[in-house]
Amino acid sequence: MNTPHINTDGNKIAESILLPGDPLRAKFIAENFLTDVVQFNSVRNMFGFTGKYNEKEVSVMGTGMGMPSIGIYSYELITKFGVKNLIRIGSCGALQENLKVYDVIIAQGASTNSNYASQYGLPGTFAPIASYELLSKAVKVANDLNIDVHVGNILSSDTFYDDNAEAHLLWKKMGILGIEMEAAALYMNAARLGAKALSILTVSDNIITKEETTASERQSAFVNMMKISLEMI
Ligand code: HPA
Repeated sequence: MNTPHINTDGNKIAESILLPGDPLRAKFIAENFLTDVVQFNSVRNMFGFTGKYNEKEVSVMGTGMGMPSIGIYSYELITKFGVKNLIRIGSCGALQENLKVYDVIIAQGASTNSNYASQYGLPGTFAPIASYELLSKAVKVANDLNIDVHVGNILSSDTFYDDNAEAHLLWKKMGILGIEMEAAALYMNAARLGAKALSILTVSDNIITKEETTASERQSAFVNMMKISLEMI
């Protein structure tokens, strides 16, 4: 099966897939955490791999940055390749003072400043939420692994560089834990197309306290998030 953005040449995509934003992170995960790895996509260098973790088949693929990009890939994965469980693993900028870099956030809901939902023509606003099944499993696995997690609402933003410097303070007042750029589209596609989705995020910087990580620290902070997502499968 081939689509405009995924060309598997007959290679398989598993029912459960991990979705980092960066395709090179997908390669890193495949090389360091999975066995029996086969690459299934290289269109636009959006690398995708299928392998095994604890004898279970799992895939991992980059999504690119932003809601349009993850919207395309998750739509094709669900509708053309039969993917059922989509777990985004990404980073976010924290919006609450108590959140530290490396903390793990599980996005129960994904508020957004994007117009993505307008395509559904709903007579109101839609609340993009995680699959309860995946969410409860992730929390249980994190508890079993002794990894602290924060569960709550995040913001999927269309802007990384927003012209309104005060906008994030309004979201902070609403209890939003952190800002990223993809989860809401993933949750909406999953809702519309009958799949299960979850976003697990590592805090890469705190927008309020200005605490930051380096690129290499960011890489190692991903390990806790990957442990949770892989053990869930
Ligand atoms: N904004 C959007 N996405 C992000 C951020 C941010 O501040 N930090 C990490 N991903």
